[in-house]
Amino acid sequence: MESPIKIGMLDSGVGGFSVLREIVKALPGHPVHYVADNAWCPYGNKPPRDIRARVLRIADYLIEKGCGIIVVACNSATIHGVEMLRATYPLPFVGMEPAVKPAAEMTETGIVGVLATEASIAGEKFHRLITAHANGVRVITRPCPRFVELVEGGVLDGPEAETAIRAEVMPLLDQGADVLVLGCTHYPFLRPVMEALVPSGVSIVDTGCAVTRRVIRLLGTDALTFPNGDRSPALTIETTGDLDHVTRLMPLLLPNLGRPAAVQHVDLLNGEANS
Ligand code: DGL
Repeated sequence: MESPIKIGMLDSGVGGFSVLREIVKALPGHPVHYVADNAWCPYGNKPPRDIRARVLRIADYLIEKGCGIIVVACNSATIHGVEMLRATYPLPFVGMEPAVKPAAEMTETGIVGVLATEASIAGEKFHRLITAHANGVRVITRPCPRFVELVEGGVLDGPEAETAIRAEVMPLLDQGADVLVLGCTHYPFLRPVMEALVPSGVSIVDTGCAVTRRVIRLLGTDALTFPNGDRSPALTIETTGDLDHVTRLMPLLLPNLGRPAAVQHVDLLNGEANS
């Protein structure tokens, strides 16, 4: 049997696990190679040029490792890098798109709040998305770097998480937002606490499932093969940062993996330094 198309995934850190968990659920046994760029985390405060250099480096590596589809499981990297990646390589790239379109259809107050990184909010692609899909709806934005710190620190609930969520979300609700878009892949890990804190009429939307559906469409019949061979684990997770950091977070962020995962450290320096 021919090998299935390996899925490559990348994020600044463990945020893309919120997409990975959906992919693993939908495609059990399908080979996935995930790179968490913890040595450069966060991306949200980096200039677009630096974000592009990182995604190019990681995409190169994932292609070298045999990936045939790459999920850019990071909104900041998608906004600043996915068009460049598509123009550079002949394979499909699936990016994250903040769920502005569904949110604009759902809102009753006509006000949508988008929580995303500073880099994403400043991105031209993000503004194009609003122009294209938020017709007649007011979109208010809020960068939440603290949320990334909390998730990378394994703090998904408790007083610290609640205080941070209140501080970011309440100003959006005070301005009338009744739909909140989670425009960063780290944020869905705080969703349960967020849901408990917001009034019942407020909806929260994210993009993990939509991205998974897109991956399944691109895989076509390949998505139906689950050859989790005996020799290599179907899921490889690598970090450019501290291996213990990611290993510690695995049971918390990916509790129902249901398959073996190899977690390793990888050095991926920019450009020639690594060649
Ligand atoms: N998880 C990423 C995103 O979706 C990046 C967060 C960060 O590194 O600042 O934007």
